[in-house]
Amino acid sequence: HAECKIGPSILNSDLSLLASESQRMMDAGADYLHLDVMDGHFVPNITFGHPVVACLRKKTSAFFDMHMMVSNPESWVEPMADSGANQYTFHVEATDDPKSCIRKIREAGMKVGIGVKPKTDVEVVLPYIEDVDMVLIMTVEPGFGGQSFMSDMMPKVQFLRQKFRALDIEVDGGVGLNTIEQCAEAGANMIVSGTAVVKSDNPRQVIQTLRSKVED
Ligand code: DX5
Ligand code: ZN
Repeated sequence: HAECKIGPSILNSDLSLLASESQRMMDAGADYLHLDVMDGHFVPNITFGHPVVACLRKKTSAFFDMHMMVSNPESWVEPMADSGANQYTFHVEATDDPKSCIRKIREAGMKVGIGVKPKTDVEVVLPYIEDVDMVLIMTVEPGFGGQSFMSDMMPKVQFLRQKFRALDIEVDGGVGLNTIEQCAEAGANMIVSGTAVVKSDNPRQVIQTLRSKVED
């Protein structure tokens, strides 16, 4: 399987130290940052929006993988692009017109991701698969970090990997030292890990161990 990239989610870090926590993750060897945006409507939690991203952009050159757990994701595309986001993942469940959302993200110059919640059938993304860069398979119910990994989501990853060799497939939720191997085996090549990395007192060690578990 393709070389796995590790993208820590800083949701469960000390958000009053967002910039230094983000830099700490990159210094620990992360490939990108996974930033969880929640609006309190699509998911029962609220985090931060594009004003925070714009400030964070000034403090790090990291690749910002925006996980948009928001309703009406179309309306935040341009603000996020203007704030320096690099990839914009909307949820297929959050819009009745994924094609127009995809087009807006492209026009804004960002990479396009489409997210699938645990209860959503992975086939729903097939009509859009040629238009996106990445599919995000949630391995927890979105809204909170620190939940348990749902290994019954792995068939969704396998289904996509078998059909689309070059597609980026990201897994997100409860991924750590004990669960990353099955993600890579199933064919995921973008690994989000939150609590396992940001709550560790040695994130470099955790990231190195995660990598060693998925290297061919
Ligand atoms: C949950 C978020 C995930 C979460 C990952 O809604 O999308 O990115 O923060 O954190 P862990 O790895 O702790 O589940
Ligand atoms: Zn996420």
